[in-house]
Amino acid sequence: MRIPLIAGNWKMNKSVTEARQFIDAVQGQLPQADVIETAVAAPTLFLQTMLDANAEGTLRVAAETCYYEDEGAYTGETSPRALHEMGIPYTIVGHSERRRYFNETDDVINRKVQAVFRNGMTPILCCDETMGRRTAGEKIHWVVNQVSTALKGVSAEDAAKIVVAYEPSWAIGSGTSASSDQAEEGCYLIRQTLADIYSDDLANGVRVLYGGSVKPDNIAGLMAKSNVDGVLAGGSSLDETSFIQLANYQNL
Ligand code: PGA
Repeated sequence: MRIPLIAGNWKMNKSVTEARQFIDAVQGQLPQADVIETAVAAPTLFLQTMLDANAEGTLRVAAETCYYEDEGAYTGETSPRALHEMGIPYTIVGHSERRRYFNETDDVINRKVQAVFRNGMTPILCCDETMGRRTAGEKIHWVVNQVSTALKGVSAEDAAKIVVAYEPSWAIGSGTSASSDQAEEGCYLIRQTLADIYSDDLANGVRVLYGGSVKPDNIAGLMAKSNVDGVLAGGSSLDETSFIQLANYQNL
């Protein structure tokens, strides 16, 4: 059984004080983690404060990125080994903004996926798709290629734990989500790719999320789809009330 994962991605928003206020506000308002798991990925410099404030909470505090080496002379980078030691369970890898603004290639993303696993964490691997590619009908090749390259050299034992997010870049931050059918199509395609690389069994156990303008008023339709196991929400995860609503989507 795939436990739904409702994850937020704060990007470069909030301050340490605001991050702490968010954690205080959601205490006791989120579902039990064995029913619906919740996570928020936040800037590295908030993580320890959030972990401390969330000591009793069910929310998982996640990282937005990390480097692919464990340590060394890489000024300004975040060590996956240090994230794991802090108690961070998930790290987003391959978000379209990292690909676009920080030139992260499929090869870099593959190395990061390996580094996250090597250090005992789970990657939330994001795959994007531009409107141009969708219109040109290339989306299948594009998303399949991103997933396959990101998983090169990753054992089935590790791959069974991965979370993959289907995030069409035309929907991210646009206010217009993909339709439930488009989200289902993308998530299904990712699951098929995992089945082709590994096995049906493995693919059926992996959680595939949809991301791109997810809000309290569209989450229920997305979550009703059989291949959508959760969401990765940016803008609507910043506000406590809306994140609590997303997490409790079954009651909306
Ligand atoms: P959005 O961002 O919900 O603000 O569209 C999603 C994401 O970038 O992960």
